[in-house]
Amino acid sequence: MPAPNTLTAARPRTDFLSATDAARLVARVGVVEVLRMITYAIEADYGRWQDFDKSARTAAHSVQGVIELMPVADARDYAFKYVNGHPLNPRLGLPTVMAFGALADVATGMPRFVSELTLTTALRTAATSAMAARRLARADSRSLALIGNGSQSEFQALAFMGLLGIRELRLFDVDPAASHKLVCNLQPYLPQFGATARVFPSTQDAVHGADIVTTATADKAYATIIHESMVEPGMHINAVGGDCPGKTELDAGVLRRADVFVEYEPQTRIEGELQQMPADFAVTEFWRVVQGLAPGRSSAQQITVFDSVGFALEDYSALRSMHALARSAGLLAQIELIPTLADPKDLFSMVRQTGLSSASKAA
Ligand SMILES: NC(=O)c1ccc[n+]([C@@H]2O[C@H](COP(=O)([O-])OP(=O)(O)OC[C@H]3O[C@@H](n4cnc5c(N)ncnc54)[C@H](O)[C@@H]3O)[C@@H](O)[C@H]2O)c1
Repeated sequence: MPAPNTLTAARPRTDFLSATDAARLVARVGVVEVLRMITYAIEADYGRWQDFDKSARTAAHSVQGVIELMPVADARDYAFKYVNGHPLNPRLGLPTVMAFGALADVATGMPRFVSELTLTTALRTAATSAMAARRLARADSRSLALIGNGSQSEFQALAFMGLLGIRELRLFDVDPAASHKLVCNLQPYLPQFGATARVFPSTQDAVHGADIVTTATADKAYATIIHESMVEPGMHINAVGGDCPGKTELDAGVLRRADVFVEYEPQTRIEGELQQMPADFAVTEFWRVVQGLAPGRSSAQQITVFDSVGFALEDYSALRSMHALARSAGLLAQIELIPTLADPKDLFSMVRQTGLSSASKAA
C-alpha cells in the first residue's frame, strides 16, 4: 500500500469552502458556538506564539483603500489571507472588507484548503476581540458601546454577549440604517442573553458609562472617534477599525492614559492607533499576557486599549477551525487546483491530452 503522502501527491485535491457553505455552517453550529471555538483556537495558538514564522503583512495602498497579503506558518501548516479594506465599497454594492485564503502542507507545499474568508474574518476578529477583553476588561463588565454598526458589528456584539457576559449594547453609527440593521439582526439573540440593544444619538452618548467600547468604523482618515474626554476609569477600549496607515479611531490622549496591548508590534506600529505615537511608546504584545509573561488588567481603575489591526495567526487559527467544522458537517467541496499527473515531471501531458480530446471533438 502506498504511503499517504504518495497518495496525496498522485491525486491532489483541495478542499473548498464557499461563502454560502461557510454561512450554512455557522448557522448550523450556531454563531456563538463558532465564535467560542475560534476564540479558544486563537488563544491556544497565541499560547505557542514562538512556534510561528511571523511577518507584518504586505500592503498595496490606493486612494480608495488597501489590499493586503497575510502569511504565517508553523512547522506543519502554512496559511495566508488576501484581504482588502475599501470604506467606500458599500456605495458600489460591495463589502468594505472581502477576503479569501488557504492552508497548505509545509512538507509538500500542497494547498489543502481554500476558503472564503469574508465571513470568517468577521468571526475571527470578534473572537480575537473577545480573547483580549477576557483578560483586559473588568470581570464585572456588563455594557458595551459599539461604534460603527457595519459588517463586523453583529459578530462583535455576539462575541461579547456570549463570551463576556455583556447584557447592555449601546450603539452608534453615522448611518442610522446600519444601526437599524444591527438591532434587527440581534433581535432573535437578545432574549437568550437577557440583553438589550439601544441606539444612541452620538458616540459620546453611547460611550458614556460603558464598561467596554468597541470602535469598528470604516473611514480612510485620521479620525478621532473616541476623544480623551469620553474615556472613564476602568474602561476597556477595543479599537478594531484603525487598521492601516492613515486610518485611526482614537485620540492620542486616549493611548497616553491607557495601557496598550497589540497583536504583533512591528505590524501595529505601522497600521494601528500606534502610528500616531513615538516609536518608543510602550506597548505589550498580547501573547505575553496569554503566556503569563505580562499582566493583563491589573486594577479596576486601569484604562486598557487593545489596538487591534488583525494578525495572520488569527486567520491561521480560524482557517483550521472552519476546515475541521466544515469537514465534520460534510460542507466541503473538492476542487482541482493542482493538476493530477501520472508522471509528476510531465506537466505538458495535460496540454497534450486536452489538446488531443479537443482535436477529436472538432473532428
Ligand atoms: N482589526 C481587524 O482585525 C479588522 C478586521 C476586519 C475589519 N476591520 C476594520 O473594521 C472596520 C469596520 O469594518 P466593517 O466590515 O464593519 O465595515 P463597514 O463598512 O461594513 O461598516 C463600517 C461602519 O462604520 C460607520 N462609520 C464610519 N465613520 C463613522 C463614524 N465617524 N462614527 C460612527 N460610525 C462610523 C459606517 O457608517 C459603517 O456603517 C473597517 O475599518 C475595517 O477595515 C478590522
